[in-house]
Amino acid sequence: MSDPISQEQLARRVEAIEWFHRIELPGGVVTPGKIDPSPRLPGLRLPDDLSGRTLLDIGAWDGFFSFAMEARGAKVTAMDSFCWSGEGWGSKAGFDCAREALGSKARSVEMEVLDLSPEKLGTFDIVLFLNVLYHMRHPALAIERVASVTGELLVLETHTDLLDVSDPAIALYDEGELWQDETSYCGPNLPALDLMLRNAGFARIEVIGETPVHRRMARALLHERLHGIPRARSMQQGWVVIHASR
Ligand SMILES: C[S@@+](CC[C@H](N)C(=O)[O-])C[C@H]1O[C@@H](n2cnc3c(N)ncnc32)[C@H](O)[C@@H]1O
Repeated sequence: MSDPISQEQLARRVEAIEWFHRIELPGGVVTPGKIDPSPRLPGLRLPDDLSGRTLLDIGAWDGFFSFAMEARGAKVTAMDSFCWSGEGWGSKAGFDCAREALGSKARSVEMEVLDLSPEKLGTFDIVLFLNVLYHMRHPALAIERVASVTGELLVLETHTDLLDVSDPAIALYDEGELWQDETSYCGPNLPALDLMLRNAGFARIEVIGETPVHRRMARALLHERLHGIPRARSMQQGWVVIHASR
């Protein structure tokens, strides 16, 4: 068995990686992630004790949510493809480093969302599908695949658009149109999310978090000032967290 990594070695390894998630590692080492996901954790409304539950984290990237759920007792499988393949914005180096440093037993699987199936991966009590849907060219199909591996509860977090449209509608983005990110393809509104989830077999769909109007307004004003995007356009966009079960 290899010797445990020293704090200094860990700090050096962390420094050499480009991180997306800020993750607190042992010995006071903190990964310099582009985002700190910890404020989003309570908004997922998951129990503090997940002992004995199986959980799939789709689009895990550096694994903040995988490790946070493992700390609650869940048996975790982390899955990603775009970033882990090295073709995306990052790599799997952050996940592997944090997994080792935390002594995690999380399983990792490199797989495309559209390749998900119970035959290939089994099913999971809880599935996290956080901030991946808007990267999908085929959102309804992606939700169907995700549903196929969801045993009890799907936690879906995504960017939304067309919030002033009352019928189901999905905004489609040209390359780089949304946040100058060429991998952001779609922004569904809430009726579209509801319909896609129901069509995928979920009977109980609960919106548990949404961007409040005052935050949308503040962001819209900022985007108008910084990027010249008309405020009425940005006001149609937001964020949502949904619990879906059968
Ligand atoms: C915006 S990041 C979200 C990371 C994390 N779930 C979170 O909420 O902080 C999107 C993640 O989805 C992954 N992803 C994008 N397209 C994917 C696909 N077709 N199959 C699997 N993962 C994908 C990316 O590699 C990336 O890790």
